Amino acid sequence: MSNKKTIRKNSLNKYILKSSEEIGSLYEENNPFVDLIITSPPYFDAKKYTDSHLEIGVNQTYKEYLDSLKRTFEGLYAISKESASLYLNIDTLKRNGKVLRLNDDVARVLEEIGWIHQDTIIWDKVKTLPYARKGQSRNVFEYILYFTKDKKDYTYNDEIIKSIKPMHWWFKHPEKYSPKGVSPSNIWSFSIPPQGSWGSQVKDESKVLKHACPFPPEMLARIILLSSNKGDIVVDPYAGTGISLEVAKRLDRNFLGFDISSESEEIFYKATSSFVEKRWDNIVSYYKYQSLIKPIYYRNIILLRVLKYVKILNKEIEKNNSLDDLNVEYLCIDKVDINFNHEKRTDKYAKVELCYISKNEQSKILLSSLIKIIQQSKLKKFGLEVVITVKSFGYEKFDKSYYFYREQGQEFEFVETNMLEPKKGRINVFSCFKLKKEELNLIWEDTVDEDIKENYTKKLDNLDR
Ligand SMILES: C[S@@+](CC[C@H](N)C(=O)[O-])C[C@H]1O[C@@H](n2cnc3c(N)ncnc32)[C@H](O)[C@@H]1O
Repeated sequence: MSNKKTIRKNSLNKYILKSSEEIGSLYEENNPFVDLIITSPPYFDAKKYTDSHLEIGVNQTYKEYLDSLKRTFEGLYAISKESASLYLNIDTLKRNGKVLRLNDDVARVLEEIGWIHQDTIIWDKVKTLPYARKGQSRNVFEYILYFTKDKKDYTYNDEIIKSIKPMHWWFKHPEKYSPKGVSPSNIWSFSIPPQGSWGSQVKDESKVLKHACPFPPEMLARIILLSSNKGDIVVDPYAGTGISLEVAKRLDRNFLGFDISSESEEIFYKATSSFVEKRWDNIVSYYKYQSLIKPIYYRNIILLRVLKYVKILNKEIEKNNSLDDLNVEYLCIDKVDINFNHEKRTDKYAKVELCYISKNEQSKILLSSLIKIIQQSKLKKFGLEVVITVKSFGYEKFDKSYYFYREQGQEFEFVETNMLEPKKGRINVFSCFKLKKEELNLIWEDTVDEDIKENYTKKLDNLDR
């Protein structure tokens, strides 16, 4: 009978003092349980972490080192779920006067096992040693190689890591901003935790902390949120200080860490939590703020797009036709369905129903001219599904109340239609929604100066022109 163990709840959430090359023999092969692997193996012989003969890269040829990595990641492959992801942090080295491309060689090893290369991320460490050498610039980046087990079916919660950081022109050009926010680029800037920031939790600090090269918790939070879900199992086979494990725990994931260094294990149990704790509030409040603001941003970007859309549309009508002939006085934005995209999954974000009110029976001419205009590319880029109708009756027959944009000193305000005198010689725009100034301010809080805000807010009152 096999002595390989099936993973049980009580064997999770542990820092295991074993060589990760043993992983393949520790767990039952046909019972995959790992959702996410995040790790940084030793960079061949660049650093000696322990006195153990099990340490990879030390007293090994380059080929032996790559073989050791292969054994570890084969073992992990066997116990990973089909939907699993692997993030591996690695750097290049200089050996014998030339670059040793560990990143390429390790990627090849992983591909031989079956891991599928999805992306290469440049990790900009921001701070680094202040020296350059002949033939080599100051090194500020490392690689994060991202692999999955399946080509398509893997966890990728990119909605969570997209960010909303509007610049002041989002207001004037809402069609240029995705309502869902911006995905991070493939250059990630996270500074490495300074050695001093580890505090005095570990007694013999000089001895224990000397060899730590810890991951920034902020970067781990991004990876864990992106590629796993609550309750999932995160493994770090070269755990070191175990920051990846601590961050996984704080994000309600299970973890398993492997390392051969009892000193690193000591750091994990004595210092890692309090170190992460110091930065945790910032991480939590960042994601909280983002999740609060995303639906507000989504709604407002779409509503601003609708207002700009009708502004351009009206200008085009005025260019092509004499308003006196058409006798159009009103445009009602009758309905805006911002959930349109969620249901239909089209490239349109919202469905908008517009109704032009003409005083006489010219509605057919107006409608055909409108249909020509909305085919234009400058209106197509707004991502709106637009339905237009033309009705022939007067303002007094409006059967519901709309909001109207009008200037009020330095502010904009919305007035119900029954309080309004329409302006002659222009298309008066009424809408079924109103923008809320508090929401707009919330979105660009901290990112925009007060005077710029004021300037742009003033432009709102003129959006129907
Ligand atoms: C680059 S460090 C990892 C640092 C870690 N990412 C952190 O945040 O602290 C590499 C680690 O691999 C460990 N190591 C070396 N050989 C190993 C082996 N055969 N099995 C498990 N861990 C090993 C070293 O002890 C060291 O802690």
